[in-house]
Amino acid sequence: MVYADFNGSTPLSSDVCEYLVQRLQTGPYSNPNAIHSLGKKMMFGMEKCRRTLAKVLGCKSSQIIFNSGSSEGISHVFYSLCDDGPKDGKDIIVTSGIEHAAVVQCCELYATKGYQIKTIKTLPSGIVDLADYQKIITECKDRICLVTVMAANNETGVIQPFVEIGKIAQDNGIIYFSDTTQYIGKSDFKFDQSNMDFAVSSSHKVGALIGSGLIIAKDLSLLRSHVLGGGQEKGLRGGTQNYIGIETMAVAMDSFDRNKELLAKVRILRENFEKNIKQNFPAAVIIGDDSPRLSSTTMIAYPGIHGQAVQIELESQDIFVTTSSACSDNKPETSRVLQAQGIKDDIGRGVVRISLCTNANAELYSKIEVALTQAYNKLKKLHSF
Ligand SMILES: Cc1ncc(COP(=O)(O)O)c(C=O)c1O
Repeated sequence: MVYADFNGSTPLSSDVCEYLVQRLQTGPYSNPNAIHSLGKKMMFGMEKCRRTLAKVLGCKSSQIIFNSGSSEGISHVFYSLCDDGPKDGKDIIVTSGIEHAAVVQCCELYATKGYQIKTIKTLPSGIVDLADYQKIITECKDRICLVTVMAANNETGVIQPFVEIGKIAQDNGIIYFSDTTQYIGKSDFKFDQSNMDFAVSSSHKVGALIGSGLIIAKDLSLLRSHVLGGGQEKGLRGGTQNYIGIETMAVAMDSFDRNKELLAKVRILRENFEKNIKQNFPAAVIIGDDSPRLSSTTMIAYPGIHGQAVQIELESQDIFVTTSSACSDNKPETSRVLQAQGIKDDIGRGVVRISLCTNANAELYSKIEVALTQAYNKLKKLHSF
């Protein structure tokens, strides 16, 4: 079996599995906020995790707020900055056309609460158009409440120029939030070099147990709790922390940090895989081919062949990938992200996403290459191409 849907959710990393087996057998279990000694022990352990994560992510441990994952983190940032409605004439949210639904839906919600949403154009490369962004900033800077542009796209893996985006926001006194869900754990990320005011991460995207996550905030005073409760996380996120999830996140990110030099090798394997497929199928299209991309993401289409058909063929060979099409009533559509970069339906409906991480090796890529070659040959014949 080849699991190649790491951008959807990662399996537990081997270090996390090893840690968990021991951890579940020996305990301890307790509420980290309890006043007894077991509670204190749990709290001490959780704070150690916060320090480990801060070291790997290039921030102060005091800048990390634990939560349940990125969707919550994204809602929390929007709630904190926008929920009171526009203040001091700041009624514009600047975003991109390639954001995850969690950001898109926050923008839609706050559009109903008095905000105007301005969407930066996306270039055919899958990268946001910095000239268009600069134009929006120049024209509207006194009215902008928030800029929100992701760091790496979940479908295409294309990496956005977030340091430049953050610098322009910073120079104009504007808050910059970046959805770093896909970037963290698949690239080396340092918050203190990112020019971001807020970043988020989800445990199940980095090899840890699903159900925990974090926000990194440059200035915690900008956050307001949207989950009321017992004052946990400095009163900024109520609810007992998922301490085992947090522990696995620290183990996973520490392990990623120690192995991150493997990313360069993975990139070479991915490039060879793409080159071989393109050699065999010159009509195949790799989305974001020439753009900076996550080392281990390939989004590929053969014009005219449906992505779901390819996915089913691959699954029949025990290879698990996804498409990016939103399907309704069996009418597959080119995803919003691909539409934003001008991809036409014959390609947009044909994509499959192959995503791995530092686990990738030559054998895995070779299995995928063989299976994809067979799938394209079979489907081409069926379509009489
Ligand atoms: C870019 C991006 N942002 C946010 C999310 C939401 O993460 P979660 O489902 O862990 O809350 C995802 C998950 O797919 C994602 O890929």
